[in-house]
Amino acid sequence: MKLPTLLSGLVAGVFALLPLVAVAQQPIVIKFSHVVAHDTPKGLAAEFFAKRAGELTKGKVKVEVYANSTLYKDKEEMEALQLGAVQMLAPSLAKFGPLGVKEFELFDLPYIFDNYTELHKVTQGPIGQSLLKKLEPKGVTGLAFWDNGFKSFSANTPIKMPADLKGKKLRIQSSKVLEEEIRALSALPQVMAFSEVYQALQTGVVDGTENPISNLYTQKMFEVQKHLALTEHGYLGYAVIANKKFWEGLPADVRGQLDAAMKESTAYANKIAKEQNDKDLEAVKKTGKTQVYALTPEERQAFKKALAPVHLKMESRIGKELLQSVYKETGFDPANP
Ligand code: LMR
Repeated sequence: MKLPTLLSGLVAGVFALLPLVAVAQQPIVIKFSHVVAHDTPKGLAAEFFAKRAGELTKGKVKVEVYANSTLYKDKEEMEALQLGAVQMLAPSLAKFGPLGVKEFELFDLPYIFDNYTELHKVTQGPIGQSLLKKLEPKGVTGLAFWDNGFKSFSANTPIKMPADLKGKKLRIQSSKVLEEEIRALSALPQVMAFSEVYQALQTGVVDGTENPISNLYTQKMFEVQKHLALTEHGYLGYAVIANKKFWEGLPADVRGQLDAAMKESTAYANKIAKEQNDKDLEAVKKTGKTQVYALTPEERQAFKKALAPVHLKMESRIGKELLQSVYKETGFDPANP
């Protein structure tokens, strides 16, 4: 072969390889969509994960976080994940019923956890692991549980006793257990996407709602709710999930690095959740727009008593055996709330 021909062949070969080199250097992009504000336990933990994923994979993975329903609303985001339009989400545990995994609704049962210590026995233990496994047939890989906090009721009229919510239209997440909870108070449940709640409260489509304080504060619901009673009657937290096909298709070393980033992020999320909610409660009080009421022990007991029947009603939906194993961990007894 003549030299010029050889050279031009080499040059052509190098150019032919260039796109491959370029492709090899492109980071793997993970779109992580969620519905709350950046400055919340979930928002901050998602950012933390994005940072650590980039660092631990040395730039091989780029996590793009889309907060505040900018990409998808509640129901749509679950569908988008299954279709692979986004790769990661952290929906609240109340949003897994419509996916067909009703067991997750155990977390919505009133007063089932009195504090984070009881909760972690379930989410960070074998029960939590077995719940995440139940997502696999849906094409979803369960990665971790991240905390938010305990929900309290708000409305435009004072709330001290269960009867104060009678007849009110209350926005809830898409959970059958939450529907029963609201009915147990003789109020009217209204399922609605999170992104629509502020407007619904503002226009009177609903009278009130239930939230951990971090969500109430960061969505500015204090502007449109005059009263908040610290009922802390239920838990709201998240399962971090990925599209199964995507996750299992990752190179093993990269997946291992992402698992490590997730482990760190979970510790971070569960450390800041209470701090964030406590800080936001002070911030709500400071606005002077919402009156915050701390229930007396008797009033709290009245809510517990009114809501305890929800456990029995929902037992067959969630699974008796599963519920018994949770009660064993937490010490809650619905017959003696
Ligand atoms: C809600 O819809 O109230 C919550 O699930 C929002 C969230 O993700 O915390």
